[in-house]
Amino acid sequence: MRRTESLRALVRETSVRASDLIYPIFVREGQTEPEPIASMPGQSRLPISSLAEEAKKIQDLGVGAVLIFGLPSHKDDQASSSSDPNGVVQNAIRTIKAATPDLVVMTDVCVCAYVPHGHCGVLKGHEVDNDASLFLLANMAVSHAAAGADVVAPSSMMDEQVLALRTALNANGFFNTAVMAYSAKFSSAFYGPFREAADSAPSFGDRASYQHDYANARHARRELIQDITEGADILMVKPGIAYLDIVLRAREISDLPIAAYAVSGEYSMIKAAAERGWLDEKKIVLETLTAFRRAGADLIITYHAKEAASWLNNN
Ligand code: PBG
Repeated sequence: MRRTESLRALVRETSVRASDLIYPIFVREGQTEPEPIASMPGQSRLPISSLAEEAKKIQDLGVGAVLIFGLPSHKDDQASSSSDPNGVVQNAIRTIKAATPDLVVMTDVCVCAYVPHGHCGVLKGHEVDNDASLFLLANMAVSHAAAGADVVAPSSMMDEQVLALRTALNANGFFNTAVMAYSAKFSSAFYGPFREAADSAPSFGDRASYQHDYANARHARRELIQDITEGADILMVKPGIAYLDIVLRAREISDLPIAAYAVSGEYSMIKAAAERGWLDEKKIVLETLTAFRRAGADLIITYHAKEAASWLNNN
């Protein structure tokens, strides 16, 4: 049954569609032109003024959703610009929804780009204050929902972040805003290029006291189950390609939709090797996307979403 491409196609178990892909975008306040991200060739920090056109392109390619990351012009210890109704993400959501009402809009909910110290929560001394941070994250999510986000995605890895968001969304009447939980987000060197892109590197220490230890699979299972009980609508595993065992575990634990995040470092590794002619970018991307789906992911968050969608559409 492997003899010809038609026979192989007949018995192929897994497929990837453009609509399975989620495209992360970086939006920067106070900017007029797209600003290329050096460590992520092909990706840029976008000004609000370019979003309508960009959203139409993404929609025309059939990409399933966008995931918005904001770079505010103002940072302070209480991350006050994160829940500003006229903040960068809130304005981005309204702009995209006006241009492409049917394009699914997801938002990252974390304060690291909104605080000068770059940690994912507010600090008490040199430690992150979990419960005080929940309050900020909940307000941020409610402001995204009010601006029109379809899905909010808490990524700060505070305990009970899903419950905090769900409770606050419901209390404010946003019953239909879904929560995509970063359930198994590991403390990873694969996030390096993102921190340049989002200007969110911690100014001291690291994120190991809140993100997961990459040596631990049983802990990931506990956190996945916890997020299901807290009301998650989508479970996410992150990073992607080195964590397919966790994707498989998530698939076995739950019938909820599962997303895998092919993070910045994975993108940059492929781009760098392809630029040198060492790897065939299109083949590598289609192979890794298929591997995510084979492991059990329904959705894949990838910076390759636009290119992959055009390759898939022209297959
Ligand atoms: C915010 C956040 C990060 C990523 C997604 N949300 C950075 C981090 O946790 O350090 C990483 C995404 C990527 O590397 O592509 N906390």
